[in-house]
Amino acid sequence: MKRVTIVVGTRPNFVKAASLYAALKAEPEFTIRLVHTGQHYDYNMADIFFRELRLPVPDVNLGVGSGTQTWQIAHTMLALEEELKHHGPSLLVTVGDVNSTLAACLVGSKLHLRMAHVEAGLRSYDRRMSEETNRIVADALSDLLFTTSSDADANLIAEGVPACRIFCVGNVMVDTLLTFQASARAMSAWEQYGLSEGKYGVVTLHRAEAVDDPNTLIGMLDALQEISRQLPLIFPVHPRTKLSIQTLAKGLDAGSGADLRLVEPMGYLSFIGLMAGSRVVLSDSGGIQAETTMLSIPCLTLRDNTEYTITLTHGTNQLVGTKREAILAAFDRVMSNQVSQQTPPLWDGKAAHRIVDILKQLD
Ligand code: UD1
Repeated sequence: MKRVTIVVGTRPNFVKAASLYAALKAEPEFTIRLVHTGQHYDYNMADIFFRELRLPVPDVNLGVGSGTQTWQIAHTMLALEEELKHHGPSLLVTVGDVNSTLAACLVGSKLHLRMAHVEAGLRSYDRRMSEETNRIVADALSDLLFTTSSDADANLIAEGVPACRIFCVGNVMVDTLLTFQASARAMSAWEQYGLSEGKYGVVTLHRAEAVDDPNTLIGMLDALQEISRQLPLIFPVHPRTKLSIQTLAKGLDAGSGADLRLVEPMGYLSFIGLMAGSRVVLSDSGGIQAETTMLSIPCLTLRDNTEYTITLTHGTNQLVGTKREAILAAFDRVMSNQVSQQTPPLWDGKAAHRIVDILKQLD
């Protein structure tokens, strides 16, 4: 019997783990322990995802919560050390690039556990992003690196990772999207805002580098307000961003005609459904670049770099930056162009099964 522990902590982790959990669960040779670090803990940021994605209640919730980066990582490591000492798995699986991923890889390495990192090899080459250091460390310490695309393989090879540790399997987040997109679309999430399909845009912003810097945030909000005069925008606001906007004390009601609607964070199905029915998505998220590509919805990424470069060449994504004028110009281009897109190789809903097939061959 192979004892697999999967560590999750944040919204995107839950989405990625869902398809992997389902594929492992179908194989009797695996027992699975699902460990939630508690990095995300609000109902709308955590529990709703478990329910909608058919994940079980975690075997343990370490309840770590929020703090500075160092505080969060240190507390997660201490709690995970106890967990992994008592329930030593034969394989520790981490997903993505959040602080919980980093903490799990550091502890697993100290305890000499065999480790697999899912969504390995992505690089923005921007070390000011905390996720970038999390990815680099997770990949350096993990034994099995499951990548989403060949550009990620190339990044790892360039860092000197032996090819025998790299397995290009596709994208588990895409697996989850393909499983749930029909029920998400059927919710017609736009109707509750009095909007019609294709006649609105969706916004998300949560990256510390963008929303914690008042000048950057003001530029982006100005651009969004301007855009919302042409196209209503629905903006589910992450708690970090809500705080930054409140601190700015900037009135978001920019007067005549602006229709930028700040709403609470949404569950998975409502949010995927909302994106699927939209005209354009403007976001600083990593995962949304992949999800919009699969939904054939144009994505304007409000960042200066991306780890998901495959979505620039094979998807609907454009890297726009955070400056007001650049955002407005990109929006104008999108509104006058048709979406043309290919699907990246292996983004076919079978990534989790490929991972499980490889794990079955481990001794
Ligand atoms: C984290 C990840 C980021 C991922 C994002 C998804 C890191 C470094 N960042 O960013 O890569 O894209 O999750 O959402 O791991 N908060 C709440 N309730 C919650 C969770 C957070 O109010 O349930 C607030 C707290 O004030 C907290 C802040 O949001 O301090 C930031 O949360 P945190 O988990 O530290 O980082 P995220 O910005 O969510």
